[in-house]
Amino acid sequence: MSMRLLAKISLAIGCGWVGMSWVGVAAAQSKAKPIPTPATAKASMPWMNTALDPDTRADLMIRQMTLDEKIQLVHGIGWGPLEPGAYVPPQDNGGAGFVTGIPRLGLPNLNLADSAVGVRMAALDSRYATLLPSVIGMASSWDPSMGMLYGSVIGRELRAQGFNMSIGGGVDLIREPRNGRNFEYASEDPVLAGTMVGKLAMGVQSTHVMGDIKHYVLNDQETGRNTYNAVLNRRAMQETDLLAFQIAIGMAHPAGVMCSYNRVNGDYACENDYTLNQVLKQQWGFKGFVLSDWEATHSTVKAALAGLDMEQPGDVYFGEPLKQAVLDGKVPAARLDDMVHRIVRSMIANGVVDDPPVRSVVDPFQGRDDAKKIEESSLVLLRNQDDILPLNAGDKTIVVIGGRADVGVLSGGGSAQVDAPGGQPGGSRWGVPVYFPSSPLRYLTQQAETAADCGSGAAPGDGTPRVKVSFNAGTNLTQAAQAAAQAQVAIVFVTQWMSEGMDRPTLSLPHNQDALVEAVAKANPNTVVVLETGGPVSMPWRNQVKGIVEAWFPGIGGGQAIAEALYGRVNTWGKLPVTFPASEAQLPHPQVAGLTSTTGNNGMNGGSKHGEETKNFTVDYNVEGMEVGYKWFQVKHETPLFPFGYGLSYTRFAYSGLNVDRGARSVSFVVKNTGARSGDEIAEVYATLPAAAGEPFRRLVGFARVSLNAGQSQTVTVPIRPLYLKIFSTQKNGWERLPGAYTFEVGGSSADLPLRTDVQLAAQ
Ligand code: BGC
Repeated sequence: MSMRLLAKISLAIGCGWVGMSWVGVAAAQSKAKPIPTPATAKASMPWMNTALDPDTRADLMIRQMTLDEKIQLVHGIGWGPLEPGAYVPPQDNGGAGFVTGIPRLGLPNLNLADSAVGVRMAALDSRYATLLPSVIGMASSWDPSMGMLYGSVIGRELRAQGFNMSIGGGVDLIREPRNGRNFEYASEDPVLAGTMVGKLAMGVQSTHVMGDIKHYVLNDQETGRNTYNAVLNRRAMQETDLLAFQIAIGMAHPAGVMCSYNRVNGDYACENDYTLNQVLKQQWGFKGFVLSDWEATHSTVKAALAGLDMEQPGDVYFGEPLKQAVLDGKVPAARLDDMVHRIVRSMIANGVVDDPPVRSVVDPFQGRDDAKKIEESSLVLLRNQDDILPLNAGDKTIVVIGGRADVGVLSGGGSAQVDAPGGQPGGSRWGVPVYFPSSPLRYLTQQAETAADCGSGAAPGDGTPRVKVSFNAGTNLTQAAQAAAQAQVAIVFVTQWMSEGMDRPTLSLPHNQDALVEAVAKANPNTVVVLETGGPVSMPWRNQVKGIVEAWFPGIGGGQAIAEALYGRVNTWGKLPVTFPASEAQLPHPQVAGLTSTTGNNGMNGGSKHGEETKNFTVDYNVEGMEVGYKWFQVKHETPLFPFGYGLSYTRFAYSGLNVDRGARSVSFVVKNTGARSGDEIAEVYATLPAAAGEPFRRLVGFARVSLNAGQSQTVTVPIRPLYLKIFSTQKNGWERLPGAYTFEVGGSSADLPLRTDVQLAAQ
């Protein structure tokens, strides 16, 4: 670690060491028994031979293990740093999970860290971690390379902090737009969600850190999550929520899949033979291991036989009780070997044994630049009446209102919470919203000054103020309206804090912010709203404002990305990965199941940890079945506030020349930038299956993001994966393509598809 970099970090972020000092950690490490590396491994350790494949190496190692050593690998050590007073082994790196390795065999400890949107509880010797934009934001880019970058930032920073496994990779479908964890998830569509999160997990694993995909499966709301029973028929499950996991897991081959808290068709997800054994392991051939969500294990024999491979965070069921069950023959010894094999082969396959993490200091500047780059293509321009955006030199008086835009940008809570630079000692507190120091006000002021300098023709920075940017907190509606009336342009920031362990009872913005927007819009015709939300919200004021930008939780580069986009320095807008409903009445579940004024929010307190298992209820996903998100809106002929796949740009695009190749392996068409600026278009390809499929809705089957200069055209070819044209046959217990006429449609939004053609396809 260079002293210069350390000094730079302290200056820039004022981060304080917590717990142990750097020197203290180094001393603790030096006492630990060194783990043999391939270079030091002796002939007595043939599993260290990197020329052998991971499965052979794992088998060779497992043959040397005692029963106790095997048991030690299939559970964590308890709540550790997550619970004050819990046991923390000396080599625990401070993350959410720890599994004790076997040094005599060269098997390292597993140090697992939550890292949904950046590293949570960054290791003891470096409190800094990059806050990335929300996963839902990253998915709004519809650009798999952004998923890859996202995962590689997480992997890089985990490695730098000594962690060798990421627990992130949320790919649950956004069935419930009020779910508190939607910011950790990608989309309501399985193809988009699976592709983007699959790339994310690939990015993590590209750094030799083990990746994870979670929460398997149908953990689509937080209310009652520890006990509720998600009910859904198998065909619909395969074609929706399971498909997202299938795609992501098939792409990334993650080390771990985390089973969720809830029940699925009666059985808990962590002891569900259908989803774990039959689908994940047999149908998809998953070679990694299934780890339970924290305290989502409910049994020993049932869970072990159903396919759970590791209990987290402790050993209630997979410690002594599992050992006894193996000795009694209730769990075959071969099944325990299978669990251990899956864990050890994943460690070897991901480089954790041969290339363990080497601690270094996280580079906050690189992280910020990466986060900003992702956010630039994650912002979604929802409305741009009279081309109010981009702002320009003519906008000389600007008022920024609300959203704590003077302080920074909002982040999501729960186990996805990244500690803010210079944040509270001991890290962030559960349930308390955290703002990150990337102030939109500051960067908008910079952009306004630059634009004014450039527009004036005078020498930049000659001291003459050419623009006035002011701030109003937005807490007093009258004062906010007065401030708005005095400015040429009013930019209102509105926020919706979301977190694990809660759902929102409604789609409305909290804290009277709808009234704030209405008051400002009434006072100033040039009002632009920037949303920092964890998912869709309703906007009763949509037609009263000129500009609307969805920024999600925008990450540590958020303030800059928003300011630069509003001033047109970048034109790389994203598109919605979820439908924005106009109201709750349009939803398959007008109320969040189980969330009432009397039960309150039981996302957290329904858990076994607190012995309150009384809140069992059913979440009936058969109501919408396969018709999740935009498919439901199409079938019900409902017009949403903003449709899935929708988003504007500062330029415009035209589509022509659709061609579907024989066998529908790919679709080609021409996209032309017909506007005056360069920009990115996200082209979307949908298919509607023959009537015999019984699916009277279009489904996304492919997409491509293209960058085009003004006037430029490009022929775009989108490959179509055969699976995406199939239905799941429960009779055959497999996928099949029905013969008949398939309609292909292409365009820039699920509700605006100018190209269309019918193609006859044979059975497959
Ligand atoms: C969350 C998981 C998380 C785990 C460990 C659970 O409450 O559901 O997503 O990885 O805690 O922090």
